[in-house]
Amino acid sequence: MKDLIATSIKYQNGRLHVLDQRLLPGRTHWRRCRSADDMIEMIKTLHIRGAPLIGVGASLILADLAERGASAEQLLADSARLQATRPTAVNLSHCMDRIRSALAQHGPRGLSHCAEQLFEEDVALCDRIAQHGAALIPENSNILTHCNTGSLATVGVGTAVGVINILQKQGKKPHVWVGETRPLLQGGRLTVWEMQHLGVDHTLICDSMAALLMQQGKVDFVLVGCDRIAVNGDVANKIGTYSLAVCAYFHRIPFYVVGPYTTLDKQCPDGQSIPIEEREDAEVLGVSGDFGDVQWSMDQTPVYNPAFGITPAKLITGWVLDTGVYTHEQVQAGILATL
Ligand code: MRU
Repeated sequence: MKDLIATSIKYQNGRLHVLDQRLLPGRTHWRRCRSADDMIEMIKTLHIRGAPLIGVGASLILADLAERGASAEQLLADSARLQATRPTAVNLSHCMDRIRSALAQHGPRGLSHCAEQLFEEDVALCDRIAQHGAALIPENSNILTHCNTGSLATVGVGTAVGVINILQKQGKKPHVWVGETRPLLQGGRLTVWEMQHLGVDHTLICDSMAALLMQQGKVDFVLVGCDRIAVNGDVANKIGTYSLAVCAYFHRIPFYVVGPYTTLDKQCPDGQSIPIEEREDAEVLGVSGDFGDVQWSMDQTPVYNPAFGITPAKLITGWVLDTGVYTHEQVQAGILATL
């Protein structure tokens, strides 16, 4: 397989390495991924994360294993195990379906080409999405974003952050309110890191501050990524997205969901059919990072930790996909089923 280099994953000289996103922004540490078990552990612990990126990461390790002589039976079994690691983001299933179809058609030798295609396709999709999204946003806009949706979460420029990246390159001078995104702080740790690298003017806020900023007229647009889009336009994304959508709707602030067609699940009729991943109590009881683990709540405290939430289509102004921007009316008329 040829060399494939992105911000947080690289296949180089026949070796797959993954940046440990849990340690950012304090420490830049790359770890070699040698097996399906390594990748499964990395995905489950969010060493590697972001809906598009985990799909590409799972594909790259399978192609790497195929090049090192794994059998079709083994690759098939590994693809099922990888697919089961995180249930909400559909991009992973999409990539595993593409890998299995390459395996059925060409055997293990077909996987390298398929993984290369998936990698390069994600780069191209991000570029197209970013252009469509940037056309919606005027100069000097205040944009609120949530979680992390940039080059750390994809192998391209990203989705919502990809739009911000292009706005900055176009000289439109966006200012970004970065929601910290409890419990795992992808906004506070990763999006801030990306904003600094891109030179975008930004301000970090706690999630609970967003409503006040909207009330004060300090937010012009909300741009978020997505982990799965149902055919009726309902969207699964990082927990906290729904609260932002409710607040934006109340304050009449445009709320855009940004993602590639690989996030659209045509088998899924509505948000209620999307499985929501629940994660460990420790993520809510405290926080972890390159500084170690800190627990601030009491042992034995009962915890509920859904990692994603559903934002109903009713609250969404537009869906920014690689094929264009779809309005509320178009989505209600069923356009997503035809894409
Ligand atoms: O749990 P994570 O960090 O993988 O969640 C990621 C998100 O929710 C992103 O908003 C989504 O994957 C879109 S990334 C381009």
